[in-house]
Amino acid sequence: MSFKIFSTFTGAGGLDIGFHGNFTFLDTYYPKLNFETIKALELNKQACETLENDNKYFANTDVLNEDITKVNPNDFKDEKYDVLLGGFPCVTFSIVGKRVGLKDDINGKLYESFVGFVEALQPKVFLAENVKGILSANKGEAIKIITKRFEETGYKLKIKLINFADYGVPQLRQRVLFIGIRKDIDDEFNIPKPTHIDNHVTSQEAFRKINKNCVNNNLMKQLATTTAKLEAIPEGGNFKDLPPELAVKALMSNIYRKLERNKPAYTVLASGGGGTWSYHYEEPRALTNRERARLQTFPDDLIFKGSNTEVRRQIGNAVPAVGVYPFAREIERILNSTIKILKKVKKVNGKVIQIRNIDKTLTRKYRKPIKFDRYGYPNLSCYVEVNIRCISLSGVYDKDVAKIKKIMKKKYSNWQNQDEYLWVYNQNSKSMDYVPRDLYLAIKNIHTIPKFKILK
Ligand SMILES: C[S@@+](CC[C@H](N)C(=O)[O-])C[C@H]1O[C@@H](n2cnc3c(N)ncnc32)[C@H](O)[C@@H]1O
Repeated sequence: MSFKIFSTFTGAGGLDIGFHGNFTFLDTYYPKLNFETIKALELNKQACETLENDNKYFANTDVLNEDITKVNPNDFKDEKYDVLLGGFPCVTFSIVGKRVGLKDDINGKLYESFVGFVEALQPKVFLAENVKGILSANKGEAIKIITKRFEETGYKLKIKLINFADYGVPQLRQRVLFIGIRKDIDDEFNIPKPTHIDNHVTSQEAFRKINKNCVNNNLMKQLATTTAKLEAIPEGGNFKDLPPELAVKALMSNIYRKLERNKPAYTVLASGGGGTWSYHYEEPRALTNRERARLQTFPDDLIFKGSNTEVRRQIGNAVPAVGVYPFAREIERILNSTIKILKKVKKVNGKVIQIRNIDKTLTRKYRKPIKFDRYGYPNLSCYVEVNIRCISLSGVYDKDVAKIKKIMKKKYSNWQNQDEYLWVYNQNSKSMDYVPRDLYLAIKNIHTIPKFKILK
């Protein structure tokens, strides 16, 4: 079974494809990862059409073309998602005395909506992408407020500014990743080591073997004056290189900036007027959308829907799949270690229990010899998985499980619907049973965790 993703602000799905894997980019195959986007929530109609039209990466995705601020996350609460993806826009806060409020109405609402999804879905992990500016918003206060908020929601947060070029993306693109791991998951997210710091992929490599006639590779409409300007600008140059008769007034260095074939591209933009369309290093023209898609590491078999401007927007907005892939793999590792691992419990010579097929990621501290009770039975009547990490508890016999159930039913009339269960393998009844998480915590204080041995 795949880990279920609820994707928000999905765009054309670059981030999601990085989680799905099973794509090829520049002749390198990125193997399938165990994730599936079940729901994709996106406001932009054309981006939704791209997702709906695709029958490889989003074949099993239910695309919701809606405004996130108008969607109630509680409607999806029972669908039990493992991962929430998104990228709320950069927010700033107004801080007056001790009161903290959101400054920007639209972005503030989108941020609140994303937090609302985290609170309602309680995914095991969330990953959100943001622009570098979020680190300095409110002179660094905004990021503190955001961190506090996610921590209060029950997540351990890792925030990392990365340059996607260092992870094999042919583009200098700095972005901040927020990775939240639900606090009850006893694992740490390790930031993947950059793989390409000293060997960035260049724009020339990125454009290798583009089939001229492939989809989304049409040339942009271009004024003759634009062509004249581009002819006057050398590779790697920009508007500052224009002769007086072609000069334009501009402030930003990326205006009419041409790529350099032996370097990664500069950041691909989603929108903007004349001079911001990213320009070929050799030919006097704007890049085609397929070239832009290559710089964003979209696989060639993803077809974008919409006008040139809309496709440019979808591509420029994206999180590069290749860059996020190692992050997704690390999240997959964490989720795998929480999967049910009880496979086989065996008695040998009446005394020794072998636990086979045990998750190899079990920490050493649980690899201890079994204790036996005074009747010679292992002091181990059930195994409890906590988020699905295998821990054994002593002294929870049939009658105790019944007692526990009774107490819990009293305490929570709907306890069967609690989000978190501990699966208990009851050795006596040879059945699986479950108890809620907070009960586990209570039992843990009463009972000692017995020592047991894991034989591989
Ligand atoms: C930075 S892009 C996300 C890109 C995407 N993660 C990817 O990797 O391709 C943000 C997306 O949020 C969408 N969006 C903006 N406001 C929204 C809203 N109110 N509800 C839903 N989606 C919204 C935009 O249309 C845009 O596609």
